[in-house]
Amino acid sequence: MKATFLEHSLRVSVVCPLCKGSLEIKRAVRHNDVIQRAILSCVSCKTLFRIYARIPVLLEPGQRADWNHPFVEALFGYTTEPYEKLLEKYGIDRIRRRYSEVIKGEYSPPKVFFKEPVDRSLLAMGGWRIRKCSIERHLERIKRQTEHNEALKEMVYIVKDLSPSRILDMCSGGGFFLAHLLEKYREFRELYSFDIDYKCAKRIEGILMYYGLLNKSLPLVTDARAMPFRQNYFDIITNNCGFGQILGYSRALRETYRALRHSGKLVVREIYGITRWDSSRTRKELGFSVDELVEFYKRYDIYIDKESFIAALEKIGFSIELIKDFKESYLIVCTK
Ligand SMILES: C[S@@+](CC[C@H](N)C(=O)[O-])C[C@H]1O[C@@H](n2cnc3c(N)ncnc32)[C@H](O)[C@@H]1O
Ligand SMILES: [Zn+2]
Repeated sequence: MKATFLEHSLRVSVVCPLCKGSLEIKRAVRHNDVIQRAILSCVSCKTLFRIYARIPVLLEPGQRADWNHPFVEALFGYTTEPYEKLLEKYGIDRIRRRYSEVIKGEYSPPKVFFKEPVDRSLLAMGGWRIRKCSIERHLERIKRQTEHNEALKEMVYIVKDLSPSRILDMCSGGGFFLAHLLEKYREFRELYSFDIDYKCAKRIEGILMYYGLLNKSLPLVTDARAMPFRQNYFDIITNNCGFGQILGYSRALRETYRALRHSGKLVVREIYGITRWDSSRTRKELGFSVDELVEFYKRYDIYIDKESFIAALEKIGFSIELIKDFKESYLIVCTK
């Protein structure tokens, strides 16, 4: 039987996210040689993970493979409801009370433990996203929505010029960056992408399938704060507007540094951040002034703005090579 790229990656790059030990495949169910379902067992800490419809889901036990905004998660704990809905449901006064209890340490939202990170509904939604018509529609949408996005285009050129062999795209989301990159650059030897959200990983699987690249790439579900990769592995790590969406993003930055090889590069696009927002507007729309948001974001280690991001990168040990400003976002290239 031919070894698939997943099996190759378990030998060279992918490890247990918790203790970084090797993972063994057990009880694999294959279709045309490709593993559809299996258990991945850590030989060191013995934690068991699963492959759901070809996607390895390497999350800490109890986590669910989906995502909500870090501000919502820090205030409410696990919920799938967006902030606007919660605002409608509770009203600004109750949410402000919750904010002050949380920030004073008088209340912390209950932790929910999920038996399975991926349930039937996530599996079903993921399944739809790899149908050919859905992929084509999605690629069209990406093209339309990014037609004038100069920062994204520049990000692609920067990565292509470096002609990396081993690439990791973090927080791949809907694959807006990856789809653009793959239009211009497919000469890599290995490409990994991950998101904490199972539906996003399936979206990327669809895009990689469309370009016929699944023989040298692997979409995963994992947490940027505990990455399942060997240290010093990647030539390039890319992150298009993902750091701003992580609760506790300094841990993700440290993991990024660990996974990059020496002299490897991190290429990031990010929005300028909340200190550029209009305080009277945030007070009206979100219920909090910018200063209140900044205080909360600091406490929960959520991305605040360009300046604090640069300081965080330097503190971890990155050397900043390039900072380029665009209208709504900026690019940073830095080296380990
Ligand atoms: C703005 S989207 C990224 C867009 C994407 N890079 C693109 O080019 O289309 C942010 C993504 O970060 C993911 N995310 C948030 N926290 C994460 C974490 N702790 N680990 C991994 N991914 C995370 C979210 O699920 C979401 O898909
Ligand atoms: Zn382990």
